[in-house]
Amino acid sequence: MVARIRTVAFRGIDVLDIDVEVQIASGMMALTLVGLPDKAVAESRERVRAALHALGLALPPKRMTINLAPADVTKEGSHYDLSIALGLLTAMDILPADQMGNYIALGELGLDASLRAVNGVLPAAVQAQIHNRGLICPAQSGGEAAWAGDLEILAPHSLLQLINHFKGTQILSRPTAQAPRTPTGFVRDLAEVKGQETAKRALEITAAGGHNLLMSGPPGSGKSMLASCLPGILPPLTPREALEVSIIHSLAGTLPEGGLLTTRPYRDPHHSASQPALIGGGHRSKPGEISLAHKGVLFLDELPEFQRTTLEALRQPLETGEALVARVNYHVTWPANFQLIAAMNPCRCGYFGVPDQECSKAPKCADDYQSRLSGPLLDRIDLQVDVPQVSVADLSSVPDGESSSRVAARVKKVREISRARFLSLDPETPHMVNADMSGKVLEQIAVMDDKAHALLMNAAEKLKLSARAFHRMKRVARTIADLDHGAEVIGAAHIGEALTYRKLRVLDV
Ligand SMILES: Nc1ncnc2c1ncn2[C@@H]1O[C@H](COP(=O)(O)OP(=O)(O)OP(=O)(O)O)[C@@H](O)[C@H]1O
Ligand SMILES: [Mg+2]
Repeated sequence: MVARIRTVAFRGIDVLDIDVEVQIASGMMALTLVGLPDKAVAESRERVRAALHALGLALPPKRMTINLAPADVTKEGSHYDLSIALGLLTAMDILPADQMGNYIALGELGLDASLRAVNGVLPAAVQAQIHNRGLICPAQSGGEAAWAGDLEILAPHSLLQLINHFKGTQILSRPTAQAPRTPTGFVRDLAEVKGQETAKRALEITAAGGHNLLMSGPPGSGKSMLASCLPGILPPLTPREALEVSIIHSLAGTLPEGGLLTTRPYRDPHHSASQPALIGGGHRSKPGEISLAHKGVLFLDELPEFQRTTLEALRQPLETGEALVARVNYHVTWPANFQLIAAMNPCRCGYFGVPDQECSKAPKCADDYQSRLSGPLLDRIDLQVDVPQVSVADLSSVPDGESSSRVAARVKKVREISRARFLSLDPETPHMVNADMSGKVLEQIAVMDDKAHALLMNAAEKLKLSARAFHRMKRVARTIADLDHGAEVIGAAHIGEALTYRKLRVLDV
């Protein structure tokens, strides 16, 4: 007889069905695992053997073959332990074969038969829900699985609890979805930032339209501080976005225990981050920082200090909203629709353009430093602003600015306006923001009056704007008009303001 248990494999956010087939036949005692297992899966054999021993169960002195089908899909990770153990227990007639086929199982086994949390429980639960099956997962991951819907979930602490459940001696209750966590990161309030009105306005536009922003200024002018205010003015994720983002974090193992992410992710990798860490990939196909920032913010502080090749690798995801990672025999696509917020000093010493503080190498040092950023990368950044130094006298004399909650209310309003607009064009795209508009949608939505059109055409010719920069400018102008009490038609003032945020080289100021 062949016992069959279902589990899953992951390719990016795609979930593939895997059958674990176990056959016990007469012959020399052996436990063989086939079906392209990687090292962690091959080690499953030993964990399963030890776990069954801990339960007082001896493997039959026969020839046991475990096949992970389809055999051409590489099996990575430790979550196959549970399905392999359940397959053996079913083949040994300890678990009921007729019921086991209705479940998808995943979890890692300890040597004492306890179950350990694994990555990817949320997407596995979504898959189980789609196929009308139940899910068996470790107790620690039960709260996460419960968010997938009203599917049947068994979340035992150990293999023994599960066996008892099927015997009817200890019934497991369904885990409950836990309340989403509030962000643990440090979020500052905009009211704390003195002066810097241009940068604050740019930050508001950025939040409202989902645009990219580059801030440049001398040390200690408040660039990192301004960026840390952004999570406080962004609207929360919609339920659909929350599930989409949480699935990525579940696969990466960065989902807070049991909870769903409801606030927009804010990722700020250090400039020493490698390309696989930022874009994704590596030994196991893991999502990179740009995918963990999906539907949220990727903050790159000290932008020119990042490796050049790493920065150039951002070009494609910034355009397509996806990260394509090539493996030896297949490709993995991770969603990566993030907002890029970057900060930099204008030169290595940091004080280029500040009277009496420039070093003797200016302006060459600024030219060298800024040339680390390529034209194509800068072309993708819609808003580029200067953040000048605030004098110490101003710090104490300038009154507190507007609070983050008031700015957040305006941002929310703009997001509602754009959502209604996108919904009227195509019911499938309510999650779009102004920065996502392209082609026909952009033409239909970014309608300009004659003066605005003339101004934009004139500027495009003088500044020699690329087609991309031209379109990006229209998107920014759309957001500025939306912030202007929801103006339907983009006026010359809106285009004029959008133009002030576009300086192609920081040096050209
Ligand atoms: N405009 C400001 N209003 C109030 N406090 C400020 C302002 N600018 C700077 N500060 C104070 O200075 C500290 C350092 O600022 P921040 O780290 O944002 O500077 P930065 O521009 O990122 O500098 P660097 O280029 O060296 O990274 C802040 O934590 C804050 O206490
Ligand atoms: Mg800083």
